[in-house]
Amino acid sequence: MLFEQTTLLLHMFKNTLLQAVDAGAAELRRFFNGSFTITSKGSINDLVTEADHASEKAIFSVIQKNFPDHFILSEETGALPQNSDIKWIIDPIDGTINFANGIPICCVSIGVEQKGKMILGAVYNPFMNEMYIAEQGQGATLNDKKIQVSDKDNLLTSCLVTGFPYQYLDTANGPLQIFEKLIRKAIPVRRLGSAALDLCWTAAGRFDGFYEHKLQAWDSAAGFLIVEEAGGKVTDLQGNDYSPYQPGIIATNGKIHQQLQSVINGGSI
Ligand code: IPD
Ligand code: CA
Ligand code: CA
Repeated sequence: MLFEQTTLLLHMFKNTLLQAVDAGAAELRRFFNGSFTITSKGSINDLVTEADHASEKAIFSVIQKNFPDHFILSEETGALPQNSDIKWIIDPIDGTINFANGIPICCVSIGVEQKGKMILGAVYNPFMNEMYIAEQGQGATLNDKKIQVSDKDNLLTSCLVTGFPYQYLDTANGPLQIFEKLIRKAIPVRRLGSAALDLCWTAAGRFDGFYEHKLQAWDSAAGFLIVEEAGGKVTDLQGNDYSPYQPGIIATNGKIHQQLQSVINGGSI
């Protein structure tokens, strides 16, 4: 009986999750390449567009209609605390700078956490029509087809992706130093501008690994589950179990994880 109830609830969460990412993505489509207001959130390139707010509003209305008692954590609004086991972690547009420049590498990302464990994640890029979904213990899919991380086992022949925060770029083993070390060994390191998609493309085997020094929970909540469910490994920069509430991330196919982790912690290639 309990098992059936749990399965039914999970099914309801998943339906709401899919409706919510669709509702957000409809707003991305509506504003993309059109006119929209852009405001600064503080520093010069920390931007938010009218579409971020519209996407967030559309997502909230789906979740709050179906589950008014659930906790929500979302980039543009912050936390809407509730006394609930379930938390929805939302990035209404991941890749806002791309979006604002008409670059179709951006997405809606939503993770569902239960008692501190990520149980569902969905990332949708409406411009490439790519929907990534993961359910804890059930694998990950891209447009309903199972995905799997790559099987490359040599960092030197791997294709990597990263992102750069605007802070502490120059610290020892910081983003620029690691990037330089990899590039000097001719290892391709891409920079897409959307951490959620970096994770999904790693899950799909397009990249062998992704690392970044400073993310927020909404950037990685859905994507890290998608990588794990596609057979990959996700840790913090020191190799500990990953939590989206701390800044650093290494997400790989598992086989190059140790090599990449060592480089990020000062090791040579
Ligand atoms: C950003 C993107 C980017 C990452 C930044 C994030 P946003 O999210 O994920 O790839 O490097 O750290 O802030 O601002 O576009 O939602
Ligand atoms: Ca983001
Ligand atoms: Ca965002």
